[in-house]
Amino acid sequence: MKLLKDKILSEGKVVNEHILKVDSFINHQVDPVIMDAVAKEFAEHFKNKGITKIATIESSGIAPALFTAKEMGLPLIIFKKQPSQILYHNLYQTMIGSYTKETSYELTLSKDYITSDDHVLIIDDFLANGEAASGAIRLIRMSYATVAGLGVLIEKSFEPGHDKVEGNGIEVFSLARIKSLSNDTIEFLD
Ligand code: G4P
Repeated sequence: MKLLKDKILSEGKVVNEHILKVDSFINHQVDPVIMDAVAKEFAEHFKNKGITKIATIESSGIAPALFTAKEMGLPLIIFKKQPSQILYHNLYQTMIGSYTKETSYELTLSKDYITSDDHVLIIDDFLANGEAASGAIRLIRMSYATVAGLGVLIEKSFEPGHDKVEGNGIEVFSLARIKSLSNDTIEFLD
């Protein structure tokens, strides 16, 4: 997606060969024009696929996922990183490990919001190691719903997430695929 790639080239900061900082339009400040445009791309790509709900993982996935939900006229479910004690008996939970932050957390979903009737599209900002996306897929499957696909804004194609998610039988649709990060240079795959 040209608009997103141009924005990454003009405002993205290469921290090192593994990390791209996009705080000015995705992770800290959010650009609604970009979010609206990415939502239209996702809605067009995933139309007519029987999708009933959009899901994302807090917190940076919420902006693009909410715009996509609005564009497709569907509800948005936010998978939470910290379960409410009140909901303790009514939750699906799965452990996610983060390589970047060297931590782990329980991703949670209330049993009230996704059921076996749902066909769920996952939207997230980054696909890196695919741990978060794999956890989201596990939660959706725990609820006996089906996964329609994964839509991400930025895929770091040099990390294993894409293959891991596709290996799970899930289509990955990435709007910007990064081949490499080096010496302040961002190289895209296509
Ligand atoms: P994974 O989610 O694909 O498995 O990758 P990883 O464990 O490496 O990522 C952990 C967190 O770091 C995720 O956000 C992910 O979106 C983010 N991340 C991974 N690579 C980059 C990068 O190059 N740049 C930026 N800006 N973020 C990256 P999170 O911890 O869930 O944070 P948030 O959604 O609350 O912001």
